[in-house]
Amino acid sequence: MTTTTRPAEASGQFAIGGDLTVNRLGYGTMQLTGEGVWGDPRDPEEAVRVLRRAVELGVNFIDTADSYGPFVAELLIKKALRPYADDLVIATKAGFTRQGPGIWTPVGRPEYLRQQVELSLRHLGVERIDLLQLHRIDPAVPVADQVGELALMQREGKIRHIGLSEVSVEDVEEAGRSATIVSVQNLYNLAHRDAEPLLEYSEANGIAFIPWFPLATGKLAAEGGPLAAAAKEHGATPSQLALAWLLRRSPVMLPIPGTSTVAHLEDNVAAATVQLTDAEFDALTRGV
Ligand SMILES: NC(=O)c1ccc[n+]([C@@H]2O[C@H](COP(=O)([O-])OP(=O)(O)OC[C@H]3O[C@@H](n4cnc5c(N)ncnc54)[C@H](OP(=O)(O)O)[C@@H]3O)[C@@H](O)[C@H]2O)c1
Repeated sequence: MTTTTRPAEASGQFAIGGDLTVNRLGYGTMQLTGEGVWGDPRDPEEAVRVLRRAVELGVNFIDTADSYGPFVAELLIKKALRPYADDLVIATKAGFTRQGPGIWTPVGRPEYLRQQVELSLRHLGVERIDLLQLHRIDPAVPVADQVGELALMQREGKIRHIGLSEVSVEDVEEAGRSATIVSVQNLYNLAHRDAEPLLEYSEANGIAFIPWFPLATGKLAAEGGPLAAAAKEHGATPSQLALAWLLRRSPVMLPIPGTSTVAHLEDNVAAATVQLTDAEFDALTRGV
Protein backbone atom coordinates (compact mmCIF):
# COMPACT_ATOMS: atom_id res chain seq x y z
CA MET A 1 0.00 0.00 0.00
CA THR A 2 1.26 3.47 -0.78
CA THR A 3 0.44 6.81 0.74
CA THR A 4 -1.74 7.42 -2.32
CA THR A 5 -4.16 4.74 -1.23
CA ARG A 6 -3.53 5.29 2.50
CA PRO A 7 -2.87 9.06 2.63
CA ALA A 8 -3.13 9.27 6.43
CA GLU A 9 0.28 7.57 6.61
CA ALA A 10 1.87 10.68 5.10
CA SER A 11 0.97 12.65 8.26
CA GLY A 12 3.80 10.91 10.11
CA GLN A 13 3.56 8.75 13.20
CA PHE A 14 3.38 9.28 16.96
CA ALA A 15 3.62 6.65 19.70
CA ILE A 16 0.90 7.41 22.26
CA GLY A 17 2.21 6.52 25.70
CA GLY A 18 5.38 5.37 23.96
CA ASP A 19 3.79 2.16 22.65
CA LEU A 20 0.63 2.84 20.63
CA THR A 21 1.90 4.06 17.27
CA VAL A 22 -0.65 5.87 15.13
CA ASN A 23 -0.69 7.93 11.96
CA ARG A 24 -0.97 11.48 13.25
CA LEU A 25 -3.99 12.50 11.21
CA GLY A 26 -6.93 10.82 12.90
CA TYR A 27 -10.70 11.09 12.84
CA GLY A 28 -13.16 12.43 15.45
CA THR A 29 -16.62 10.87 15.66
CA MET A 30 -18.65 13.66 17.25
CA GLN A 31 -20.32 14.58 13.94
CA LEU A 32 -21.66 11.03 13.54
CA THR A 33 -24.55 11.57 15.96
CA GLY A 34 -27.80 13.52 15.72
CA GLU A 35 -28.24 17.29 16.13
CA GLY A 36 -26.65 18.66 19.32
CA VAL A 37 -24.54 15.46 19.58
CA TRP A 38 -27.76 13.74 20.66
CA GLY A 39 -29.35 10.59 19.30
CA ASP A 40 -28.87 8.75 16.04
CA PRO A 41 -27.37 10.29 12.88
CA ARG A 42 -29.62 11.51 10.09
CA ASP A 43 -27.95 8.99 7.77
CA PRO A 44 -26.72 5.97 9.77
CA GLU A 45 -25.47 4.16 6.64
CA GLU A 46 -23.28 7.11 5.66
CA ALA A 47 -21.92 7.14 9.23
CA VAL A 48 -20.82 3.52 8.84
CA ARG A 49 -19.33 4.30 5.43
CA VAL A 50 -17.36 7.24 6.89
CA LEU A 51 -15.79 5.03 9.57
CA ARG A 52 -14.88 2.26 7.13
CA ARG A 53 -13.47 4.71 4.58
CA ALA A 54 -11.37 6.39 7.29
CA VAL A 55 -9.66 3.10 8.06
CA GLU A 56 -9.21 2.36 4.34
CA LEU A 57 -7.48 5.72 3.97
CA GLY A 58 -4.97 4.77 6.66
CA VAL A 59 -6.59 6.46 9.65
CA ASN A 60 -5.77 4.33 12.68
CA PHE A 61 -6.52 6.82 15.45
CA ILE A 62 -10.22 7.37 16.14
CA ASP A 63 -11.52 9.68 18.85
CA THR A 64 -14.91 9.16 20.46
CA ALA A 65 -16.71 9.52 23.81
CA ASP A 66 -19.39 7.75 25.81
CA SER A 67 -21.36 11.03 25.71
CA TYR A 68 -21.56 11.31 21.90
CA GLY A 69 -25.18 10.30 21.46
CA PRO A 70 -24.74 9.17 24.29
CA PHE A 71 -23.21 5.85 23.18
CA VAL A 72 -24.27 6.35 19.55
CA ALA A 73 -20.74 7.00 18.27
CA GLU A 74 -19.20 4.10 20.20
CA LEU A 75 -21.86 1.68 18.95
CA LEU A 76 -21.37 2.88 15.37
CA ILE A 77 -17.64 2.26 15.68
CA LYS A 78 -18.32 -1.30 16.86
CA LYS A 79 -20.83 -1.89 14.06
CA ALA A 80 -18.59 -0.49 11.33
CA LEU A 81 -15.15 -1.66 12.35
CA ARG A 82 -15.28 -4.77 14.53
CA PRO A 83 -13.31 -7.05 14.30
CA TYR A 84 -10.82 -4.26 14.74
CA ALA A 85 -7.58 -4.02 12.78
CA ASP A 86 -4.54 -4.74 14.98
CA ASP A 87 -3.16 -1.23 14.52
CA LEU A 88 -6.42 0.63 15.24
CA VAL A 89 -6.33 2.82 18.35
CA ILE A 90 -9.69 3.98 19.71
CA ALA A 91 -9.60 6.80 22.21
CA THR A 92 -12.79 7.32 24.19
CA LYS A 93 -13.77 9.60 27.05
CA ALA A 94 -15.83 9.63 30.22
CA GLY A 95 -16.85 12.40 32.60
CA PHE A 96 -19.72 14.21 30.87
CA THR A 97 -23.39 13.44 31.54
CA ARG A 98 -26.06 14.45 29.03
CA GLN A 99 -29.52 15.87 29.72
CA GLY A 100 -30.49 16.63 26.13
CA PRO A 101 -29.19 18.05 22.81
CA GLY A 102 -26.27 20.41 23.38
CA ILE A 103 -26.32 19.97 27.16
CA TRP A 104 -23.20 18.65 28.86
CA THR A 105 -22.69 18.38 32.64
CA PRO A 106 -19.45 17.07 34.11
CA VAL A 107 -19.67 14.30 36.69
CA GLY A 108 -16.37 12.92 37.98
CA ARG A 109 -17.44 10.82 40.93
CA PRO A 110 -15.31 7.65 40.88
CA GLU A 111 -18.28 5.26 40.83
CA TYR A 112 -19.72 7.09 37.81
CA LEU A 113 -16.43 7.09 35.92
CA ARG A 114 -16.10 3.37 36.61
CA GLN A 115 -19.62 2.72 35.32
CA GLN A 116 -18.91 4.64 32.11
CA VAL A 117 -15.63 2.84 31.47
CA GLU A 118 -17.44 -0.48 31.94
CA LEU A 119 -20.12 0.65 29.48
CA SER A 120 -17.53 1.86 26.95
CA LEU A 121 -15.82 -1.54 27.08
CA ARG A 122 -19.19 -3.12 26.31
CA HIS A 123 -20.26 -0.64 23.64
CA LEU A 124 -16.95 -0.69 21.81
CA GLY A 125 -16.67 -4.46 22.22
CA VAL A 126 -13.12 -4.42 23.58
CA GLU A 127 -11.43 -5.96 26.61
CA ARG A 128 -9.27 -2.92 27.25
CA ILE A 129 -9.67 0.70 26.25
CA ASP A 130 -6.59 1.97 24.40
CA LEU A 131 -6.85 5.56 25.62
CA LEU A 132 -9.39 6.76 28.18
CA GLN A 133 -9.59 10.54 28.41
CA LEU A 134 -11.22 12.26 31.35
CA HIS A 135 -13.59 14.44 29.29
CA ARG A 136 -13.63 17.24 31.88
CA ILE A 137 -12.24 17.55 35.36
CA ASP A 138 -15.29 17.82 37.63
CA PRO A 139 -14.58 20.80 39.93
CA ALA A 140 -16.76 19.23 42.63
CA VAL A 141 -14.56 16.13 42.98
CA PRO A 142 -10.85 16.00 43.95
CA VAL A 143 -8.67 15.42 40.87
CA ALA A 144 -6.89 12.60 42.73
CA ASP A 145 -10.22 10.76 43.13
CA GLN A 146 -11.15 11.11 39.45
CA VAL A 147 -7.78 10.25 37.95
CA GLY A 148 -7.08 7.78 40.77
CA GLU A 149 -10.14 5.71 39.81
CA LEU A 150 -8.96 5.60 36.19
CA ALA A 151 -5.50 4.57 37.39
CA LEU A 152 -7.12 1.78 39.40
CA MET A 153 -8.95 0.56 36.28
CA GLN A 154 -5.66 0.77 34.42
CA ARG A 155 -4.07 -1.54 36.98
CA GLU A 156 -7.06 -3.87 36.59
CA GLY A 157 -6.28 -4.08 32.86
CA LYS A 158 -9.39 -2.22 31.66
CA ILE A 159 -7.58 0.89 30.44
CA ARG A 160 -4.24 0.99 28.63
CA HIS A 161 -3.47 4.70 28.76
CA ILE A 162 -5.00 7.76 30.45
CA GLY A 163 -5.48 11.22 28.95
CA LEU A 164 -7.18 14.49 29.87
CA SER A 165 -9.37 16.96 28.01
CA GLU A 166 -9.69 20.78 28.23
CA VAL A 167 -7.02 21.24 30.87
CA SER A 168 -4.23 23.60 31.90
CA VAL A 169 -0.59 22.73 32.44
CA GLU A 170 -1.29 22.86 36.19
CA ASP A 171 -4.14 20.35 35.77
CA VAL A 172 -1.83 17.93 33.95
CA GLU A 173 0.77 18.25 36.68
CA GLU A 174 -1.81 17.65 39.39
CA ALA A 175 -3.33 14.66 37.57
CA GLY A 176 0.18 13.36 36.97
CA ARG A 177 0.50 12.70 40.69
CA SER A 178 -2.24 10.04 40.39
CA ALA A 179 -1.46 8.52 36.97
CA THR A 180 0.80 8.82 33.95
CA ILE A 181 -0.93 11.24 31.57
CA VAL A 182 -0.09 10.40 27.94
CA SER A 183 -2.41 12.78 26.07
CA VAL A 184 -4.30 16.04 26.32
CA GLN A 185 -7.19 17.19 24.14
CA ASN A 186 -7.90 20.93 24.03
CA LEU A 187 -9.59 23.38 21.70
CA TYR A 188 -6.88 24.46 19.26
CA ASN A 189 -6.79 25.49 15.63
CA LEU A 190 -5.27 28.19 13.43
CA ALA A 191 -7.75 30.76 14.76
CA HIS A 192 -7.80 29.69 18.45
CA ARG A 193 -4.43 29.17 20.05
CA ASP A 194 -5.05 29.75 23.76
CA ALA A 195 -3.74 26.25 24.45
CA GLU A 196 -0.25 27.17 23.19
CA PRO A 197 1.38 26.79 26.66
CA LEU A 198 -0.16 23.31 26.97
CA LEU A 199 1.13 22.42 23.51
CA GLU A 200 4.63 23.49 24.49
CA TYR A 201 4.37 21.48 27.73
CA SER A 202 3.18 18.46 25.72
CA GLU A 203 6.11 18.77 23.32
CA ALA A 204 8.57 18.97 26.20
CA ASN A 205 7.08 15.90 27.89
CA GLY A 206 6.26 13.64 24.91
CA ILE A 207 2.52 13.97 25.52
CA ALA A 208 0.14 13.66 22.56
CA PHE A 209 -1.68 16.94 21.88
CA ILE A 210 -5.07 16.30 20.31
CA PRO A 211 -6.59 19.57 19.06
CA TRP A 212 -10.38 19.52 19.03
CA PHE A 213 -12.31 21.77 16.65
CA PRO A 214 -9.29 21.60 14.27
CA LEU A 215 -11.51 23.15 11.59
CA ALA A 216 -13.24 25.56 14.00
CA THR A 217 -16.38 23.48 13.49
CA GLY A 218 -16.16 23.99 9.77
CA LYS A 219 -15.52 27.77 9.77
CA LEU A 220 -11.91 27.22 8.67
CA ALA A 221 -13.07 24.77 6.01
CA ALA A 222 -15.54 27.17 4.40
CA GLU A 223 -14.98 28.09 0.76
CA GLY A 224 -15.31 31.81 1.51
CA GLY A 225 -13.49 31.54 4.86
CA PRO A 226 -10.16 32.98 6.06
CA LEU A 227 -8.10 30.29 4.31
CA ALA A 228 -9.79 30.47 0.92
CA ALA A 229 -7.20 32.62 -0.89
CA ALA A 230 -4.14 30.80 0.48
CA ALA A 231 -5.77 27.46 -0.30
CA LYS A 232 -6.44 28.44 -3.88
CA GLU A 233 -2.84 29.55 -4.28
CA HIS A 234 -1.58 26.22 -2.96
CA GLY A 235 -4.04 24.14 -4.97
CA ALA A 236 -5.57 22.71 -1.79
CA THR A 237 -8.89 23.11 0.00
CA PRO A 238 -9.21 25.42 3.05
CA SER A 239 -9.74 22.43 5.34
CA GLN A 240 -6.56 20.78 4.04
CA LEU A 241 -4.59 23.94 4.74
CA ALA A 242 -5.94 24.17 8.31
CA LEU A 243 -5.00 20.54 8.96
CA ALA A 244 -1.62 20.75 7.20
CA TRP A 245 -0.78 23.76 9.40
CA LEU A 246 -1.62 21.77 12.55
CA LEU A 247 0.46 18.78 11.44
CA ARG A 248 3.37 21.06 10.65
CA ARG A 249 3.02 23.02 13.91
CA SER A 250 4.23 20.18 16.15
CA PRO A 251 5.30 16.53 15.96
CA VAL A 252 3.08 15.74 18.98
CA MET A 253 -0.03 17.11 17.20
CA LEU A 254 -2.75 14.54 16.44
CA PRO A 255 -5.64 16.33 14.67
CA ILE A 256 -9.01 14.54 14.69
CA PRO A 257 -11.19 16.45 12.19
CA GLY A 258 -14.83 15.47 12.38
CA THR A 259 -17.25 15.00 9.51
CA SER A 260 -20.46 13.17 8.73
CA THR A 261 -19.69 12.63 5.04
CA VAL A 262 -17.28 10.47 3.06
CA ALA A 263 -16.59 13.37 0.67
CA HIS A 264 -15.37 15.67 3.47
CA LEU A 265 -13.45 12.81 5.07
CA GLU A 266 -11.54 12.18 1.85
CA ASP A 267 -10.84 15.90 1.53
CA ASN A 268 -9.56 16.07 5.11
CA VAL A 269 -7.38 12.95 5.06
CA ALA A 270 -5.69 14.16 1.87
CA ALA A 271 -4.35 17.05 4.00
CA ALA A 272 -1.70 14.62 5.21
CA THR A 273 -0.06 14.85 1.81
CA VAL A 274 -0.11 18.67 1.65
CA GLN A 275 3.37 20.07 2.21
CA LEU A 276 3.48 23.71 3.29
CA THR A 277 6.57 25.71 2.43
CA ASP A 278 8.21 27.61 5.30
CA ALA A 279 6.83 30.84 3.84
CA GLU A 280 3.30 29.45 3.65
CA PHE A 281 3.50 28.10 7.20
CA ASP A 282 4.76 31.45 8.51
CA ALA A 283 2.12 33.40 6.61
CA LEU A 284 -0.67 31.21 8.01
CA THR A 285 0.80 31.40 11.53
CA ARG A 286 0.86 35.21 11.35
CA GLY A 287 -2.20 35.84 9.25
CA VAL A 288 -5.20 33.89 10.53
N1 LIG B 1 -12.61 17.02 24.08
C1 LIG B 1 -13.64 17.77 23.81
O1 LIG B 1 -14.21 18.42 24.68
C2 LIG B 1 -14.14 17.84 22.41
C3 LIG B 1 -15.04 18.84 22.02
C4 LIG B 1 -15.46 18.87 20.69
C5 LIG B 1 -14.97 17.93 19.79
N2 LIG B 1 -14.11 16.96 20.20
C6 LIG B 1 -13.55 15.96 19.25
O2 LIG B 1 -12.92 16.67 18.23
C7 LIG B 1 -13.42 16.23 16.95
C8 LIG B 1 -13.35 17.36 15.97
O3 LIG B 1 -14.20 18.42 16.37
P1 LIG B 1 -15.52 18.77 15.55
O4 LIG B 1 -15.92 17.57 14.77
O5 LIG B 1 -16.54 19.27 16.49
O6 LIG B 1 -15.11 20.01 14.72
P2 LIG B 1 -14.18 20.23 13.44
O7 LIG B 1 -13.46 18.98 13.10
O8 LIG B 1 -13.41 21.46 13.68
O9 LIG B 1 -15.24 20.58 12.31
C9 LIG B 1 -16.28 19.72 11.98
C10 LIG B 1 -17.24 20.53 11.13
O10 LIG B 1 -16.62 20.90 9.91
C11 LIG B 1 -17.34 20.40 8.81
N3 LIG B 1 -16.34 19.87 7.88
C12 LIG B 1 -15.49 18.86 8.09
N4 LIG B 1 -14.70 18.65 7.04
C13 LIG B 1 -15.05 19.57 6.12
C14 LIG B 1 -14.60 19.85 4.81
N5 LIG B 1 -13.60 19.14 4.27
N6 LIG B 1 -15.19 20.87 4.13
C15 LIG B 1 -16.19 21.59 4.69
N7 LIG B 1 -16.66 21.35 5.94
C16 LIG B 1 -16.10 20.35 6.64
C17 LIG B 1 -18.25 19.33 9.35
O11 LIG B 1 -19.44 19.23 8.62
P3 LIG B 1 -19.79 17.91 7.74
O12 LIG B 1 -20.27 16.88 8.72
O13 LIG B 1 -20.84 18.40 6.82
O14 LIG B 1 -18.52 17.51 7.06
C18 LIG B 1 -18.50 19.80 10.78
O15 LIG B 1 -19.56 20.72 10.79
C19 LIG B 1 -14.83 15.75 17.29
O16 LIG B 1 -15.35 14.92 16.27
C20 LIG B 1 -14.60 15.06 18.59
O17 LIG B 1 -14.08 13.76 18.39
C21 LIG B 1 -13.69 16.92 21.49
